[in-house]
Amino acid sequence: MSAQTAYSVDASQPDNYYGYRSFKKGKFAFRRDEYFVHIDWPKGSHTLPADAFLRALQRDVAWNFFYGTVNFDSVFGTLNHYGTVDMFCGTFNDAYKEGGLDYMETYKSEDLMTTFKAILDDWTNAGYDPFAAPEETKMAFGRKDGDNKKAIERLRVTANRMVGIPGDTPPRTDAMGYPVNRQFADVEQDKPEVYPEPGFEKEVAGFNLFAYLSRSDVTWNPSVCSVVKESLYCPTSEEFTLPVEHGNDRVEWFMQMSDEIVWVVKDKETGRPRARVTCKPGDICAMPADIRHQGFSPKRSMLLVWENASNEIPKLINEGKAPVVPVKF
Ligand code: PHB
Ligand code: FE
Repeated sequence: MSAQTAYSVDASQPDNYYGYRSFKKGKFAFRRDEYFVHIDWPKGSHTLPADAFLRALQRDVAWNFFYGTVNFDSVFGTLNHYGTVDMFCGTFNDAYKEGGLDYMETYKSEDLMTTFKAILDDWTNAGYDPFAAPEETKMAFGRKDGDNKKAIERLRVTANRMVGIPGDTPPRTDAMGYPVNRQFADVEQDKPEVYPEPGFEKEVAGFNLFAYLSRSDVTWNPSVCSVVKESLYCPTSEEFTLPVEHGNDRVEWFMQMSDEIVWVVKDKETGRPRARVTCKPGDICAMPADIRHQGFSPKRSMLLVWENASNEIPKLINEGKAPVVPVKF
């Protein structure tokens, strides 16, 4: 066993299960084989494909448990309390709850994060990139075969003010290792001309957001490109499926900037279907705070996610002082 103590190898499993380590966290046990991840908890067990699990785990790690609920699928996931985090099976699944199979444990966030990072590192093979579109990476499957630390240690880009403002996050270039993606070959790479009044050179700037997104090397990983008080503009390039069903704890807005995404929207607590929303270029929609949603992008597309990062909002919603929808008609 390694010196890290926040997780332990599951003693009930062979030490080298297909070459992979097995993990225990509280009463949860995790193991993977060539195709699947298996999760056991006191009242049940669950199996999901290894690639789907790793894509979701990668997002949960990179986003530090994100806003609200991160459902890896309809059974397993995490719920962020910003400092502590719940890990659950079946808690947000009507059938599991009715059958008494639901189970949840709460940890300090950094404690579960240590476990998640260890699983992600051990179960990601050489050449598999959980952030990449399926066409742009090797497969996740097979016996343990090396690692891909460079891919899994990417964090999301976070500007403090706006990309391109002197001293903040620089726009992406070829020289920085960000070539234009194969599916955005037609996106123009020109730069806006900006002529600030003398004295305002550090305050007024512009960058080509389409060019910036055309060079994203990841999918479903919003970068924070501008920050105004609590208002975060988080554009992202999407292809294939959003690897998680995100259960909001606040309203968030989507603006479809290119191509098309189909959103499947379900009730946050039960998982019952609520809506299917097809977003075409220029469409804007708001995701309510009482749903979970998953996006399907048939071709690489550009999406602007607009978040209000205020940590007051989940409390206000829970107390009924803020609405779960942005507008009531
Ligand atoms: C979301 O859950 O709102 C979300 C997450 C990642 C994305 C897009 C949307 O890339
Ligand atoms: Fe969301």
